[in-house]
Amino acid sequence: MAEKKTINICLIGQKFMGRTHSNAFLKVGKFFDVPLLPVMHTICGRNEAELNEFKETWGWQNASTDWKSAVKNPAIGLVDVGTPNHLHKEMAIAALEAGKHVACEKPLAGTLDDARAMRDAAKKAKKSKTFVWYNYRRVPAVALAHQLAKAGKLGRIFHVRAFYLQDWGGPGVPLLWRFQKKFAGSGAHGDLNAHIIDMARFITGDEITEIVGSLAETFIKERDIVSGGPKGGIAGGTSGGAKKGKSDVDDAVLFLARFKQGAIASFEATRLATGNQNKNGLEINGEKGSIRFNFEDMNYLEFYDATSDRKTQGWTKIMVTHGGDHPYAANWWPDAHIIGYEHGFINQTADMLNMIAGKDPVVPMPDFEDAYKTQQVLEAAIVSATERRPVKIAEMK
Ligand SMILES: NC(=O)c1ccc[n+]([C@@H]2O[C@H](COP(=O)([O-])OP(=O)(O)OC[C@H]3O[C@@H](n4cnc5c(N)ncnc54)[C@H](O)[C@@H]3O)[C@@H](O)[C@H]2O)c1
Repeated sequence: MAEKKTINICLIGQKFMGRTHSNAFLKVGKFFDVPLLPVMHTICGRNEAELNEFKETWGWQNASTDWKSAVKNPAIGLVDVGTPNHLHKEMAIAALEAGKHVACEKPLAGTLDDARAMRDAAKKAKKSKTFVWYNYRRVPAVALAHQLAKAGKLGRIFHVRAFYLQDWGGPGVPLLWRFQKKFAGSGAHGDLNAHIIDMARFITGDEITEIVGSLAETFIKERDIVSGGPKGGIAGGTSGGAKKGKSDVDDAVLFLARFKQGAIASFEATRLATGNQNKNGLEINGEKGSIRFNFEDMNYLEFYDATSDRKTQGWTKIMVTHGGDHPYAANWWPDAHIIGYEHGFINQTADMLNMIAGKDPVVPMPDFEDAYKTQQVLEAAIVSATERRPVKIAEMK
């Protein structure tokens, strides 16, 4: 058998997303017939001892605390940015200027200004491909929802009802980077609304044109300072004692929006929805049919076909695991042998490798230009909440 071509990866960030991405690079070649095999060349982070342990655990060839040199290494083909939001711009642009392909975690950046600079740098770097880890697009049920809408099964869309509810952000959680504007840009909004805005745009194939009204709330205004500086993980990090610091991001944001083709939409993101741990979902209602999805039951897509016989009409709970019929399913297990969180990242990695080799992804992939559009919606919702007025997306240049 002929040897496959390879591409060397440099991943920056070795915590939560560092693990999901490392796992994806490790597995992708075992489950997908990809044209390029990823080589886990260099892992970058800040803490040398932790980095070396991570390198051994996941099989990276090198570990470095100097990401600036690592991204310039001529051996590297793809730089993967998995760090807090305020670092995305500097890291992604350095990688693009070094001629690399770049995959960046979501949201594209903490601020619209940073996101714009990244979009512009990507436009300039003509030989580089860019990818953003809006991984939920590649959950088979969400990919199927996109395919059904595209095939006209929903008809004209009237409503988009999207929610991303978590409950880990109570008062006992210390002042992680996620609660500080200078690191995160925003709170639940950029973290969670970013995903559902992307999913709504992806499934409907439509663009949001206006935020009609928005509400942002910070319920917990002070949090314990973490010993040794802000630590990571969704709720990782331990409180450092009596000293408190200000949390200057939202804990929850709700907004109403209009789509270009007429649909009206509601979005809700919160870290304080007690009992809802990762309820990322939406319901879309169209003239011919509806879909609904909830990540906590991620192997299913529910579909209502309003064109079918009235006697048997009703919600169909589709288990999206049929190889050959359902997106990505043929690469995994036999029917009804269900998949999990990590598979969205592995599916995305397969699509990125295909795209670097000039092939099409299974479903559309967000690049920096596309993720900038999601960032404009995020920014417009914050302006709307702050200024208590409707905001057109076109204002967000
Ligand atoms: N796609 C998703 O579903 C998803 C889920 C969680 C997080 N994210 C995104 O991924 C990114 C990282 O989040 P996380 O949860 O992995 O955070 P984390 O806090 O768990 O990890 C951040 C990593 O960045 C490293 N880092 C921080 N500053 C650095 C610097 N100056 N130089 C080098 N490395 C540095 C840290 O050492 C750590 O390894 C964020 O943009 C976040 O929004 C996406």
